[in-house]
Amino acid sequence: MSVTFTPLTPVFGAVVSPIDLRQVRDRDTLMQLREGMDKYAVLVFRNQPFTNEEQLDFAQRFDGQLHAKTSVAVLAKNRFGNEALTDISNVNAQGDIMAANDRLRASTVSNRLWHTDASFENPAGRYSMLSARVVPPVRADTEFADMRAAYDALDEATRQTLEGLHVFHSIVYSRHVLGFEFSEEERARLKGAVHPLVRELTSTGRRSLYLASHAQHIEEMPIPEGRLLLRDLMEHATQPQFTYRHEWLPQDLVIWDNRTTMHRARPFEDKKHRRELCRTTTLDLPFEIAA
Ligand code: OGA
Ligand code: MN
Repeated sequence: MSVTFTPLTPVFGAVVSPIDLRQVRDRDTLMQLREGMDKYAVLVFRNQPFTNEEQLDFAQRFDGQLHAKTSVAVLAKNRFGNEALTDISNVNAQGDIMAANDRLRASTVSNRLWHTDASFENPAGRYSMLSARVVPPVRADTEFADMRAAYDALDEATRQTLEGLHVFHSIVYSRHVLGFEFSEEERARLKGAVHPLVRELTSTGRRSLYLASHAQHIEEMPIPEGRLLLRDLMEHATQPQFTYRHEWLPQDLVIWDNRTTMHRARPFEDKKHRRELCRTTTLDLPFEIAA
């Protein structure tokens, strides 16, 4: 099947021509979609009425092994009974809108910081696939930033400075900034992870910054200096010309590449309206394409 991509911005992101991902199994179509991911980094698919099982199956067909330790999964078990399904919603286990002081709500709210999924783990997340199940009657968008375009726009001297640097990412750090407290046990479990600050994707040869609010310090620099550099880079990478804002329709599936983009949730009246999405994320491990 031939797939076409309609760009969403001059820089990145595309809407994919009508397709039912539940039925897509042939290698050629999957390859076209992977090439689309390499080129656009964020793909929007309309009208994907996934069940949880179908979403899990598609995620594995498309990009391999699933991540089970992203986002809120590090705090508590979810209502789906499978940690490879991340509950991106403002609803508790009983199906009610979460109270303002619900501990899990604080975690959902933290998605409003620019981040990449599971950069505080090793392996981190590669592709995240977010399925819109219940969309509120008000705008509750997700915003994306292209860190390849941000890298390309750096001057040569800055690029040289970044060469060979590594960043420590921690969810304890990013949540702490928002006043969220972790227990001893959680802190011991959530050790964080170190990743290169600049990555080159072998499939495209393009270079990208790898940033997130989880980025705590630069390993090779004194802490204040590293933090300032990370702040500058975050500011640079999230300028409007590098971003796309997604307005959700029910049954949208959006796939993004966590290696080359950041994303954040935009605020809405979350104590008034339900918003329920379900995410699958693959592990950033070498992927063997099935014969
Ligand atoms: C996610 C996420 C943002 C949103 O699913 O990983 O950060 O708008 N979502 O819900
Ligand atoms: Mn996220």
